Amino acid sequence: MANVVVVGAQWGDEGKGKIVDWLSEKADVVVRFQGGHNAGHTLVIDGVTYKLSLLPSGVVRPGKLSIIGNGVVVDPHALADEIARLKEQGVELTPETLKVADNATLILSVHRELDALREGSTEGTRIGTTKRGIGPAYEDKVGRRAIRLRDLANLPTLGPKIDRMLSHHNALRRGFGLPELTHEAIYEELSSAAPKVLPYVEATWELLDERARAGDRILFEGAQGALLDVDHGTYPFVTSSNTTAGQAATGSGLGPRAIGYVLGIAKAYTTRVGEGPFPTELTDEIGRRLGERGHEFGTVTGRPRRCGWLDAVALRQTGRISGIDGIALTKLDVLDGLDEIKVCVAYELDGQTINRLPASQGAQSRIRPVYETIEGWKGATAGARSWADLPAQAVKYVRRVEELIDCPIALVSTSPERADTILVADPFED
Ligand code: GDP
Ligand code: IMO
Ligand code: MG
Repeated sequence: MANVVVVGAQWGDEGKGKIVDWLSEKADVVVRFQGGHNAGHTLVIDGVTYKLSLLPSGVVRPGKLSIIGNGVVVDPHALADEIARLKEQGVELTPETLKVADNATLILSVHRELDALREGSTEGTRIGTTKRGIGPAYEDKVGRRAIRLRDLANLPTLGPKIDRMLSHHNALRRGFGLPELTHEAIYEELSSAAPKVLPYVEATWELLDERARAGDRILFEGAQGALLDVDHGTYPFVTSSNTTAGQAATGSGLGPRAIGYVLGIAKAYTTRVGEGPFPTELTDEIGRRLGERGHEFGTVTGRPRRCGWLDAVALRQTGRISGIDGIALTKLDVLDGLDEIKVCVAYELDGQTINRLPASQGAQSRIRPVYETIEGWKGATAGARSWADLPAQAVKYVRRVEELIDCPIALVSTSPERADTILVADPFED
């Protein structure tokens, strides 16, 4: 019985939250292993919508243990607000059911400010971030000047750490012409955060190890998507963490053997929020229609998502990079009623046909999609819960996608509702 890792296989917002919630019925523990509250995962259960950014998407099911792993960057105030919001929605969240890694890195207001400042500066350098401070917090982590969750328990000893962090940030702030931050301001921010989050803080690697040894099933929940991975994505238009499946082990403190089955999540088309290359982007009426039918607006920032056809080249590539065993194909219903559907099967770069996404920023911006056209379907897939409910042509589309990306489709999703999901092959039983 394998543990399952859920990762985005495109540019994020593939429907990871819905699928993790659906799969969590069979899991004992759900753990987030990277990213922060740049993520926006939406669940719809019997008409009630839950929006999650930091909390794992298993939280709405009673009896599951939710873990925010060491690979996550945690804004303590955002976490406390999200806990309060979910509690108001009737979700049971206590220090017994939610644990946050003691060695996870904190996001502070200085990171948020720097993120926003950079995004507002010179045209052409903008990434289109969520301005949550994600990048600057990861920079401080690898720069060895970050403050971590466990540090909140030892506030009086934090003096030298605060000074170290400030010597870096105040130099930057002087360069931007901003007032310097005082030691006292950071101390104050940390001490106001401490009582809100400390009750949840624990050595989660140890807890996960114990649970794994006891035979509990662990579901790892990725954020963002493989094309936003800091190594493998469309650099520099990426997020600041590894979003691919290998990170599930490092970002939770378990060895790679803990990763059993890797489930990649992909929409039946493609979306992207923020700047950066997007070979199959549609700026025409069809793109607008996909955005409208798919309600493609960012959960976190409300920005309209850019929409385009499915990119089988990129998907085949991310399938390899994340070691994807099966794909959950989501939002098939958004394609209902189209006369024809296109899928990108190769790229053209400077007159040559290529079959992979090149690494260079210049080449990524010059590639043109080569399309295969597939007939659309008249009936509706919306709300379908079994293969038998799908129009024959929709089944053909799914099968053709499977061939093109060279990876089996394990699940199909046909609406935002938890129950509107078709199981083809159970990842936990693989
Ligand atoms: P995530 O970031 O990968 O968890 O995805 P988001 O939650 O940000 O975005 C996916 C959106 O599509 C959410 O609003 C979901 O409720 C919705 N959604 C998920 N699966 C389906 C589906 O099969 N059909 C439709 N129409 N919407 C879906
Ligand atoms: P979920 O988990 C889609 C994008 C931002 C920007 C880039 C860098 O909901 O799929 P960041 O704030 O991370 O430094 O921004 O990454 N981005 C996402 N796009 N879904 C997400 O998360 C994203 N998280 C970040 O739009 O282009
Ligand atoms: Mg999202």
